[in-house]
Amino acid sequence: MSFQHIEGWLTEDEGLRLESHASQCRELIVEIGSYRGRSSLYIAKGIEGSTFNPIFYSIDPHAGIGVNGHNFDADDLAACYHNFAAHPEFGQHIRKLVMRSDQAAPLCENRSIDMLFVDGDHSYEGVTDDLCRYLPRMKQGGCVILHDWYLDSVRTATYQFDCLVYGDQVDNMKVCGVNHGQS
Ligand SMILES: C[S@@+](CC[C@H](N)C(=O)[O-])C[C@H]1O[C@@H](n2cnc3c(N)ncnc32)[C@H](O)[C@@H]1O
Repeated sequence: MSFQHIEGWLTEDEGLRLESHASQCRELIVEIGSYRGRSSLYIAKGIEGSTFNPIFYSIDPHAGIGVNGHNFDADDLAACYHNFAAHPEFGQHIRKLVMRSDQAAPLCENRSIDMLFVDGDHSYEGVTDDLCRYLPRMKQGGCVILHDWYLDSVRTATYQFDCLVYGDQVDNMKVCGVNHGQS
């Protein structure tokens, strides 16, 4: 099943990669930036198709934050709930957190996140802040996936973090592993 009918920018190949990674997660998946739920549903489909039952936090304040010239607002929240309800077998796996990523970070324990999908505030400061807050909460060997990798702001912010191991790219999405080192 494809979710390309839901408004958004994620390609089908990117969605399938999210689904595949989500299907291998055991404890906690975090998505920063859900918009109308396209990427959330691919991730939830991965959970539904797996034998594990990780918690999945989908974080977005839906509060008029502008990203790349597009304004996001409360209509997106209503659309999100509508889209999740239209696919209850997948929607049941999504815990929607209507708040900013900095507010949600304390809900995640250190070294507990298997997979982090970053698709929120794409500014250099925004991506830096998200990675500062969430990387310590990633499991060793976990997976960080960054959308809009074509943006200088996203890439430059990401390169600051030594614990990221760069993997392949699917369309506009960069897949990285997490290596915290020996400590
Ligand atoms: C590019 S859209 C996300 C697209 C979505 N992943 C999809 O596949 O359709 C960016 C979203 O990030 C949200 N956002 C912006 N800043 C945020 C923040 N600090 N924390 C969480 N979400 C944020 C915006 O409200 C917007 O809905």
